Amino acid sequence: MKNIKAIIFDAYGTLFDVNSAAEKCKDQIGDKWEGFANFWRTTQLEYTWLRSLMKRHKDFWKITEDSLDKSMKAFNIDPSMKDELLNLYKVLSPFKEVPEVLKDLKEKNFKLAILSNGTPDLLNELVKSNNLDNVFDDLFSIEQVGIYKPDSKVYDMPINKYCIEKNEVAFLSANTWDVSGGGNYGYQSIWVNRNKNIFDNLDYKPNNEVKDLRELINLV
Ligand code: 2OP
Repeated sequence: MKNIKAIIFDAYGTLFDVNSAAEKCKDQIGDKWEGFANFWRTTQLEYTWLRSLMKRHKDFWKITEDSLDKSMKAFNIDPSMKDELLNLYKVLSPFKEVPEVLKDLKEKNFKLAILSNGTPDLLNELVKSNNLDNVFDDLFSIEQVGIYKPDSKVYDMPINKYCIEKNEVAFLSANTWDVSGGGNYGYQSIWVNRNKNIFDNLDYKPNNEVKDLRELINLV
């Protein structure tokens, strides 16, 4: 990848493991924990897309709670677990290679930022709770533009802040629809495909596909 001036990361699912909240409760939830975690994540994302289309914005923390409520009912999870599951979502674990790769990248001459659906408070707490708060130049939250990914106003934020061209951004996401959003917008993209997923048919193919972030150093 040539001419990269900024490396921009999606947060949930890319740097931080969204299933790690439910996984920490798997003993109380039982075998259905993974199905529940996936249903919760899918419902959460559906709510972001539907609210953007309906122009009825609600922030990501409230959507995370609303989607949790539905998922707990759907999987018949004891309502007394709600607060624990929500609080765990604030301190999700990073994928194992993330801290080291980010610290190595910090030594190079790129702007490093998160671009996420998460609220500013959620993103600050996520990076602080994982000792990553000195890594990023910016934590861009969609709350700044009031609409969710993949709206182009979200991908505008780093371009406007850093006064760079769209193709001077290397955008990393594990979420195929987010890779297509950023790529169709004009970013160079890297799909972080940890679980051998299938890409989408949204008029876009990622510039690069990696299994995890360790491959990133050789790409930029
Ligand atoms: C994020 O914006 C896509 O939810 C994911 O971090």
